[in-house]
Amino acid sequence: MLPDIMAAALNEQIKVEAESSQIYLAMASWAEVKGFEGIAAFMFKQSDEERLHMLKLLKYVNQRGGYAVVSALDEPRLDYSSFSVLFRQLYEHEVKVSASINNLVDIALTHKDYATHNFLQWYVSEQIEEEAQAKVILDKIDLIGDSKGGLYMFDNDMKNFTSQGHNIVQ
Ligand code: FEO
Repeated sequence: MLPDIMAAALNEQIKVEAESSQIYLAMASWAEVKGFEGIAAFMFKQSDEERLHMLKLLKYVNQRGGYAVVSALDEPRLDYSSFSVLFRQLYEHEVKVSASINNLVDIALTHKDYATHNFLQWYVSEQIEEEAQAKVILDKIDLIGDSKGGLYMFDNDMKNFTSQGHNIVQ
């Protein structure tokens, strides 16, 4: 059985992951309309992944005798002034998500909920990857600067950018 405080905190995280999915979906839609095909494909994929993060938590809470709540989501409020600003926001968002995962780990340890502590390790690893991936993308963006050709190549690259941060050959 989940301690009440743990169930409440996991429910908060369900909302965080669902909002992450919405944020990346909003980014995907913007990129698609702007003609950034690769960036859009990457963001749609990110959005799907965040939904899976949300579902995994939801199922865990229910499995442990809690009740996973599906709550209303905040509308994504993003600065769409450029694709680089968008990726900066993605990075900053992931840093915030990592902090909330760390907070969950803290609660699990404080309340001796070792099962949840174990469950959360998947998220801890996932956040290391997601932050690293966002950093790699920001470094690429720094490299291309204002070059139009660079942007074309970057967009093309993003089509094949996986969540593990590797480029795959199509
Ligand atoms: Fe599920 Fe990217 O945090």
